[in-house]
Amino acid sequence: MNSRPPALNRHLLLIAAILAALPCVQSTWWSMSQIPMQALSMVGTGVICDNIPGLIARQRKLCRSHPDVMVSVVKGAKIGVKECQAQFSQYRWNCSTSDRDSSVFGKVMLKGSREAAFVYAISSSGVVNAVTRACSKGELRRCACDPTKKGQSRDHKGIFDWGGCSDNVRYGAKFSRLFIDAREKRVRDARALMNLHNNRAGRRAVKKFMKLQCKCHGVSGSCTIRTCWLAMQDFRRVGAFLKSKYNGAVQVMMNQEGNALMVANTHHKRATRSDLVYLEDSPDYCLQDTGIGSLGTAGRECNKTSLGPEGCDIMCCGRGYDVRTEQRTEKCECKFHWCCYVQCKECTKLVDVHTCKGPNPTPSPNIRRNRYRRRGKTANTHHSSNNVIRNIP
Ligand SMILES: *[C@@H]1O[C@H](CO)[C@@H](O)[C@H](O)[C@H]1NC(C)=O
Ligand SMILES: *[C@@H]1O[C@H](CO)[C@@H](O)[C@H](O)[C@H]1NC(C)=O
Repeated sequence: MNSRPPALNRHLLLIAAILAALPCVQSTWWSMSQIPMQALSMVGTGVICDNIPGLIARQRKLCRSHPDVMVSVVKGAKIGVKECQAQFSQYRWNCSTSDRDSSVFGKVMLKGSREAAFVYAISSSGVVNAVTRACSKGELRRCACDPTKKGQSRDHKGIFDWGGCSDNVRYGAKFSRLFIDAREKRVRDARALMNLHNNRAGRRAVKKFMKLQCKCHGVSGSCTIRTCWLAMQDFRRVGAFLKSKYNGAVQVMMNQEGNALMVANTHHKRATRSDLVYLEDSPDYCLQDTGIGSLGTAGRECNKTSLGPEGCDIMCCGRGYDVRTEQRTEKCECKFHWCCYVQCKECTKLVDVHTCKGPNPTPSPNIRRNRYRRRGKTANTHHSSNNVIRNIP
């Protein structure tokens, strides 16, 4: 301890204090997504491996032996959370995380639901992505572009050299499996098998979106010779792909022998290795319920005209919504200037913002409606007369 510079010690104590103060529902390696970016250099020295909550012994060992890769694991965990929130921002369950809870995604993950399936897949693919990227950049000791793996091939366009960093994703996927799957390898119950399946689906999704990228050489850019390598594409594509797999997730259950998962409804198709699988139906996430980690949708913004999940009908679970007018600033009248920038003006607009009502709507509208009904008027006439009044200038 004493050999470390004092600044390092202070940092270490701070991080240890932050992490130890987190209450744990069931913390896992996801807690690494909460390590602040400024502390990444600490992760790289391997000194905090014992202070990260939720790691099992095998993961702590990997943390100590591969501190450089751990930096990528933290980045990957963060990428996963960010992508999950981007994909689900319009849904009742919006992948919210809690800074003060080392289980990160809260009790929602205790159930073997579709949401849990997605979170496992997107986190594991986030780690593959981050480790592979670090490897390409030469940041990892044990993974580098193998200069001996080079060659020449020919296709309909001509000759090309291949090589470079194409193999990195294999290292990324291998490390992701080694580290993340370690927890699930201890017990072989249905939930562990579900997690393993979805972790793998996440790793495969990254591989699926690797693309051969080429650079042209040859006489005046004739492209008779190309240098090609496999490169990762934007992670958003992986997120969107896994989101589509979430929509089509396959419900499974343990087979009779108790050693593998089988499709729950025999009329449905079997799950492929790229599909997400889940065990239990999801709650509706309409109301706040701390027991299952549901935040409820009271106060959430919704879209009055949309029929999708962000539409007020679905988002508010039929509880209705409030409207307020808000001033919002956005870019407008953008012009492209040669060469090469875009200049925009800022416009302020008044927009109607709709937000879901809470579970106990104020009783007054109902009372009023009842009164009208008693007088033989329907709630509808009440509404339309309101409109008429509003439209008179
Ligand atoms: C998700 O919704 C809750 C309310 O239900 C809100 O407090 C939270 O900020 C949202 N999280 C994200 C990441 O959008
Ligand atoms: C609301 O939904 C409609 C229909 O899907 C869409 O055209 C509109 O852009 C959405 N509004 C906002 C503010 O997202």
